[in-house]
Amino acid sequence: MATSNKLMTMFMSLIFLIHIPYFASSDLRTGFYSNTCPKAESIVRNVMKKALIREPRSVASIMRFQFHDCFVNGCDASMLLDDTPTMLGEKLALSNINSLRSFEVIDEVKEALEKACPGIVSCADIIIMASRDAVALTGGPFWKVRLGRLDSLIANQEDSNNIMPSPRANASALINLFQKYNLSVKDLVALSGSHSIGKARCFSIMFRLYNQSGTGKPDPAIDPDYRRELNKLCPLDVDQNVTGNLDATPVVFDNQYFKDLVGGRGFLNSDQTLFTFPETKEFVKLYSMNQSEFFKAFAEGMLKMGDLKSDKLGEVRRNCRVVNHRHSHLLLETLNREGSYM
Ligand code: HEM
Ligand SMILES: *[C@@H]1O[C@H](CO)[C@@H](O)[C@H](O)[C@H]1NC(C)=O
Ligand SMILES: *[C@@H]1O[C@H](CO)[C@@H](O)[C@H](O)[C@H]1NC(C)=O
Ligand SMILES: *[C@@H]1O[C@H](CO)[C@@H](O)[C@H](O)[C@H]1NC(C)=O
Ligand SMILES: *[C@@H]1O[C@H](CO)[C@@H](O)[C@H](O)[C@H]1NC(C)=O
Ligand SMILES: *[C@@H]1O[C@H](CO)[C@@H](O)[C@H](O)[C@H]1NC(C)=O
Repeated sequence: MATSNKLMTMFMSLIFLIHIPYFASSDLRTGFYSNTCPKAESIVRNVMKKALIREPRSVASIMRFQFHDCFVNGCDASMLLDDTPTMLGEKLALSNINSLRSFEVIDEVKEALEKACPGIVSCADIIIMASRDAVALTGGPFWKVRLGRLDSLIANQEDSNNIMPSPRANASALINLFQKYNLSVKDLVALSGSHSIGKARCFSIMFRLYNQSGTGKPDPAIDPDYRRELNKLCPLDVDQNVTGNLDATPVVFDNQYFKDLVGGRGFLNSDQTLFTFPETKEFVKLYSMNQSEFFKAFAEGMLKMGDLKSDKLGEVRRNCRVVNHRHSHLLLETLNREGSYM
């Protein structure tokens, strides 16, 4: 018995040392870490609270990660990987460069989790928990998240470039894109309500202020008073990194975003278009009048989007920015030395 215990211990420490990638079990579930890291959700929540106090916008910036992660090869934290000499990451993809921000908050969450339960909680799950918390902490709905994702071993900048929608997109293009992920028109409109918090750059709206669809004119759907405000914020010669609020209450998660769309005060073309197309307009109206309907649909949409799976091998990264070091040479050496026990 003593020998077999010793072998078991050796075997477990080998797995720990070598970081063998594996497939995630197919079912995500609530309470996934209740035995292995019972404080996981409260640790994430506390770091998010601190981030919110330090800089209110940061929680919006993090909530956006769920969209940019899950749409590109499933929710696998691929977008958190830094570039390496042999791999172009997703951070510099078209929709992400000079735009995604607050990666340091995820680092802070990860550090706290590694201290409490090393090697247990994936970065992909951190994005899901942190996004939920961003919404709940700013006045939006709370929902129970399903966990158990693994982190990818690679990122794919080209896929991100090809998939992520432009702020110029119209509702019919957005409907088609979301349909590819089995997300309905209702999901699309509700999830766009994420723009109830956060900011965007002048860069993302210059065309609609000055040259919508190459007409040399502004988007006619913009309310004239609001357009004057936007022209002031983003004159033709502006530093296009200047930012404006995505709705009138950018640090409160509420249905103001939809009220703004009804009033022609949507910031992005991809926002205002939801009120100009009949398929999406009804949902905009509904959510503008009934915040509970919006909250319910938003939580459902986030859960569906969070279920988008990667079909590749994964691991639990130690540092969300880099894949774990492989020690396959160590595995081979150990197996050679201990080969007789297997
Ligand atoms: C429907 C298609 C969508 C389009 C075309 C779109 C596009 C954009 C753009 C262009 C920005 C501003 C980027 C910049 O100027 O730097 C932005 C910001 C943001 N997006 Fe979206 N988005 C979409 C859907 C979503 C979804 C589904 C979520 C999350 C569930 C989301 C969350 C956010 C948040 C929170 C911000 C503000 C981030 C910050 O303040 O740093 N978006 N989005
Ligand atoms: C919507 O955008 C797509 C893709 O850019 C374009 O082909 C289509 O003509 C647009 N639809 C309308 C009704 O403007
Ligand atoms: C969407 O649903 C269909 C039918 O249930 C399924 O075959 C497909 O894999 C789903 N697609 C995604 C991206 O989940
Ligand atoms: C507007 O866009 C069109 C088509 O992209 C372009 O040919 C034209 O030069 C632009 N006009 C201005 C004023 O930038
Ligand atoms: C925004 O700032 C970044 C550096 O922070 C710079 O590289 C980029 O060119 C700027 N973008 C615009 C549109 O001015
Ligand atoms: C708003 O939506 C909620 C949730 O679906 C529903 O219970 C409620 O009756 C609606 N309120 C109004 C005023 O329609």
